[in-house]
Amino acid sequence: MAGVRREDAGRPGILSVQRPIGLSAPWIDGREEELVLATLRSGQLSLGPMIDRFEAALAERVEAPFVAAVSSGTAGLHLCMQLSGVGPGDEVVTTPFSFVASANCVLYEGANPVFADIDPDTLNLDPAAVEAAITPRTKAILPVHIFGYPAELTELEAIAARHGLAIVEDACEALGSAYRGRPVGSSGHPAVFAFYPNKQMTTGEGGAVAVASEQEWELLKSLSNQGRSDSGEWLTHARLGYNYRLGDLAAALGLAQLERLDEILAARGEVAERYRALFAAVDGVEIPLADDETHRRSWFVYVVKLPVGSDRNGVIARLAADGVASKPYLPSIHLQPYYRERFGFREGMLPVAEDVSSRTLALPFHSRLPAEDQERVVDALVRALG
Ligand SMILES: Cc1ncc(COP(=O)(O)O)c(C=O)c1O
Repeated sequence: MAGVRREDAGRPGILSVQRPIGLSAPWIDGREEELVLATLRSGQLSLGPMIDRFEAALAERVEAPFVAAVSSGTAGLHLCMQLSGVGPGDEVVTTPFSFVASANCVLYEGANPVFADIDPDTLNLDPAAVEAAITPRTKAILPVHIFGYPAELTELEAIAARHGLAIVEDACEALGSAYRGRPVGSSGHPAVFAFYPNKQMTTGEGGAVAVASEQEWELLKSLSNQGRSDSGEWLTHARLGYNYRLGDLAAALGLAQLERLDEILAARGEVAERYRALFAAVDGVEIPLADDETHRRSWFVYVVKLPVGSDRNGVIARLAADGVASKPYLPSIHLQPYYRERFGFREGMLPVAEDVSSRTLALPFHSRLPAEDQERVVDALVRALG
């Protein structure tokens, strides 16, 4: 198809080249331009007032007492390991079905991630598997609200309380989600958000940590700013820190996106609902779990499960030939080459996560995906599954 000449497109017997449909796209509008330009003109590009405004607006949004902005979700997760006292030789029980950063942050501190299997429907940590994975070395539990679907916090909190463990929430995919009627980020445990451009809202690159106390917030601000001392003296470094600062241009973009977050989330919800309706007429493709009384998802990606035995690579290639982007999403972390080599992990250790990882496929999904593109995606997937 790539070889079809433009003048041939549309002629009988000649296939036209289809307009590509990408996996994701940020929704940037006038307000974002306005705030970024004002910040640019202000000359205060780092450690300026936009950071404070962004942190305050995000804290209000997720109903957390304090929020510290950082340079990425990964940076936020790393700092939360320090906040929780995770150190060399400790174990952190976490999910294999996530983006690699949620386990890497444990390794950064010389601790070991211990993977517990997931629930096949929610795709989040199975609390019974978490309980079974706890040893005398366990220091913390790190649940991920995968694809924006809230993890089982009540059960995990009970386990953590029984064993005296910390909880750090990876909420990188879950801004706007709610658990038992409260926003993700408001639980009192440190919760990390991320703002890469495929997320619900973006700062380009960036992240933030919601915490319950001013003390934790101050520590995060210091650690992300080269360990500077609380006395405010610029070149006094009280602890080993990092440059994990978010800049003011990024914060300005984030503030504008936050102002529009309800509009953005509503649009994403409509796109998800259209997919649900289109897939109602398709057999064999399993769509994302619906919300219930305790779990309200904020739509991050649209990931379907293909039928058992499908040739997923073939499906991806056939979709690509139709101009439709798709990705196997997500590979299990314990089977990543680095983890296999370092820890000797093999297939069969976490059967639910491995089965899910072998069949899940992310389809094009973003706030302004047109209905006709969604129809094309679903038609192409039906053909690709043959
Ligand atoms: C579940 C999860 N954890 C962590 C991250 C890391 O965030 P970042 O890319 O901002 O470092 C991401 C996003 O990429 C993610 O989806």
